[in-house]
Amino acid sequence: MACLWCTSSWFGSKNSKILQVHMVLFVSVVCGGLLLEAASNDPNLTLDYYKSTCPSVLGIVRKEMECAVLSDPRNAAFILRLHFHDCFVQGCDGSILLDDTVTLKGEKSAPQNRHSLNGFKIIDRIKNWLESECPGIVSCADILTIAARDAVLLVGGPYWDVPLGRKDSKSAGYEVVETNMPTADESLLSIISKFLYQGLSVTDMVALSGAHTIGKARCVNFRRRIYGDFPITTSPLNPISQVYLNNLKSICPPIEGENYNETAMDYLTPHLFDNSYYHTLLRGEGLLNSDQNLYSSLLAIEETRELVEKYAANPIAFFQQFAESMVKMGNITNPEAHENGEVRKTCRFVNA
Ligand code: HEM
Ligand SMILES: *[C@@H]1O[C@H](CO)[C@@H](O)[C@H](O)[C@H]1NC(C)=O
Ligand SMILES: *[C@@H]1O[C@H](CO)[C@@H](O)[C@H](O)[C@H]1NC(C)=O
Ligand SMILES: *[C@@H]1O[C@H](CO)[C@@H](O)[C@H](O)[C@H]1NC(C)=O
Repeated sequence: MACLWCTSSWFGSKNSKILQVHMVLFVSVVCGGLLLEAASNDPNLTLDYYKSTCPSVLGIVRKEMECAVLSDPRNAAFILRLHFHDCFVQGCDGSILLDDTVTLKGEKSAPQNRHSLNGFKIIDRIKNWLESECPGIVSCADILTIAARDAVLLVGGPYWDVPLGRKDSKSAGYEVVETNMPTADESLLSIISKFLYQGLSVTDMVALSGAHTIGKARCVNFRRRIYGDFPITTSPLNPISQVYLNNLKSICPPIEGENYNETAMDYLTPHLFDNSYYHTLLRGEGLLNSDQNLYSSLLAIEETRELVEKYAANPIAFFQQFAESMVKMGNITNPEAHENGEVRKTCRFVNA
């Protein structure tokens, strides 16, 4: 029903078939200096930014996202992750959406992002609709930020108001992807420092990791985990965990090759935004090393372990913190785009 409002047919589209510390103080001091250069904490965004120029913006994004998530809940995960990858490279400026051209190397083709990011077509659809409704007004960076909020909401997560007024960048940070994006097999402290660099705290990091309550990961990203310390962290290895581990091993054989087989990060409620991700960590069943390390890393700082316990016990506390941390992440601005940015006509290309 909701899809009466969609700009194009979702059902039957190709899309629907692809169902497919003490040390922290130290890091904090070291990175505190860098922080000032990386992120401006006063993005100057407002809740009513499009009130007079494009009053239908929130409704349009919501309708398109309803259709997208209804046709495949995985789309919620795609969009949420896109927003994260946008914000961590030169701020939330729509840079992740840019395609490669002769003069521009897009972030989406950086090694860590290739074959791993999806949802671009959903943003295209929203943009098309908005360009017919209020041409040249709504930035792609804002579209992605609102869409990420709606994605979370539509699969059962919390609501929050989205500050708006971002500008789209005229450049992308291909090289910065490798420097800024955390990876599955990176140490906890290293991941923490990447969040601190963005002006995000350890609490933000643990709460935002809860995004892994939806979506899937590819074998290449959890092979070292399941052939590594999985049995050690899951102690004593209960029969259900053993079945789970065997299943993961059959999806992801030890030899390189089958790198594209995917599995849910929260195998109990993969399409629901809830706090069960933290329960997987308590059971030692976190799929990625970076996930399980929040709770069981030998270097696990008490702070992350306690936060995991807190969010596992208290879903409301998780939702509240997740919402606040998402706003904070959405506040990471690219001062360059803020000053000299634009509103792209097409999210994939800088305006001519
Ligand atoms: C804390 C550090 C993080 C690390 C190391 C990390 C790493 C990863 C990896 C390796 C995957 C699987 C990608 C693939 O196999 O193609 C993934 C998926 C995902 N990540 Fe993260 N992530 C982190 C934080 C976040 C944050 C902050 C968010 C959003 C707020 C997020 C949202 C997602 C989502 C929704 C997926 C599933 C995507 C899908 O279903 O295709 N992640 N992440
Ligand atoms: C923030 O917005 C106000 C009003 O639009 C403007 O006067 C001010 O210069 C802006 N500040 C920054 C840092 O962009
Ligand atoms: C995000 O930015 C807005 C305005 O730019 C500000 O009012 C709000 O307090 C910020 N929120 C967080 C959590 O940083
Ligand atoms: C892994 O993927 C390959 C092809 O990509 C497929 O043939 C194989 O059955 C998959 N294994 C599992 C367990 O999903």
